[in-house]
Amino acid sequence: MSTLFSPVTIAGLRLRNRFIMSPMTRQFSPDGVPGEEVAAYYARRAESLGIVMTEGSYVNESAGGFGNVPRLFGDDALAAWRKVTEGVHAVGGFIFPQLWHIGAQREPDAGPYPDSPLVSPSGINCDGRRVGEPATIAQLDETVRAFARAAVFAREAGFDGLDLHGAHGYLLDQFHWPVTNRRTDAYGGDMAGRVRLSAEIAAAVRAAVGPQFPVCFRFSQWKGNDFEARIAGTPKELEAFLTPLVEAGVSMFHASTRRYWLPAFDGSDRTLAGWTRHLTGRPVIGIGSVGVGAPFLSITDDARSGKAAGLSRRVPLLAQAHPDRGGQRPGRGAAGGRPPIRTGTVSASSSTSSRKWLT
Ligand SMILES: Cc1cc2nc3c(=O)[nH]c(=O)nc-3n(C[C@H](O)[C@H](O)[C@H](O)COP(=O)(O)O)c2cc1C
Repeated sequence: MSTLFSPVTIAGLRLRNRFIMSPMTRQFSPDGVPGEEVAAYYARRAESLGIVMTEGSYVNESAGGFGNVPRLFGDDALAAWRKVTEGVHAVGGFIFPQLWHIGAQREPDAGPYPDSPLVSPSGINCDGRRVGEPATIAQLDETVRAFARAAVFAREAGFDGLDLHGAHGYLLDQFHWPVTNRRTDAYGGDMAGRVRLSAEIAAAVRAAVGPQFPVCFRFSQWKGNDFEARIAGTPKELEAFLTPLVEAGVSMFHASTRRYWLPAFDGSDRTLAGWTRHLTGRPVIGIGSVGVGAPFLSITDDARSGKAAGLSRRVPLLAQAHPDRGGQRPGRGAAGGRPPIRTGTVSASSSTSSRKWLT
């Protein structure tokens, strides 16, 4: 446990401890521009954490459908993000933006840029509903360029690295998942095809920011509307997914599960973070109910039943997972049970269960 509080060097950054703040959408940036309150919010959290990851932020006009989500393009946003990063650096912290594109989770004509095209693998959202047409190759090429431009933007804004949102059923994850990716060209089919767009984006980002800039990739074994949805059913499939990303220049991974301490696959007690570390050798952030000690119903229900104490500790754990022990887990009770609530973690968020769609 004390290891978590010890400094560590990750992707060239000397972190004060191994706690990373998870990306959490806030929608407090009118017209996509983070203001002083957003800067103060991130600086407060950076005082005690290893890295702060920002809320998912749009890489281009097609990327989103929600109002007041910050963007990673435009001079006004660049000037505003500079104030955010300066505030974090003033307290000795590090901050990564999360590069986000929601793909087919955007309703047609929705969002701050309703005229921009809806880009997704097959025009099918995670509920299986048709919301548009499959993206053309030209649209995919433009999407790759948009991520690369956002990465340059991030570096110019003073960020210390970046996180690519490849999780939770958004654009990149729509490519990873056969349910939303029904393409028969090079971007669909087997795992090599389904991870191709993510790998091209990672490679373009790496080329744009140079060899040293930390590039993290977040992926998940669940979707916002389906907690059982998996992109890899075996360690071999996970390897086929991760290897092209490593080759593209990803320097660390963010393995998102619902319960970070549970075995990822049958036949081994390694967690998803543990397998990711084992297969890639890269530093890995574990996430999923870290520090949550009881089922969460709602703020009111939990307050009534006295369970609220575990709710505020939603800070993911930088696993540095030991490949043979499935990551550094706190002790658990009965097999598959929840670990006890851990003390000393940092409050960072609100409830999840009341939202149908997490980001
Ligand atoms: C309010 C809220 C906003 C979120 N926004 C994002 C986001 O922008 N990007 C992302 O990758 N995950 C987002 N998530 C998911 C969290 O980063 C995290 O993966 C998820 O809450 C699971 O961790 P937990 O079990 O500790 O809550 C959000 C979660 C919450 C509760």
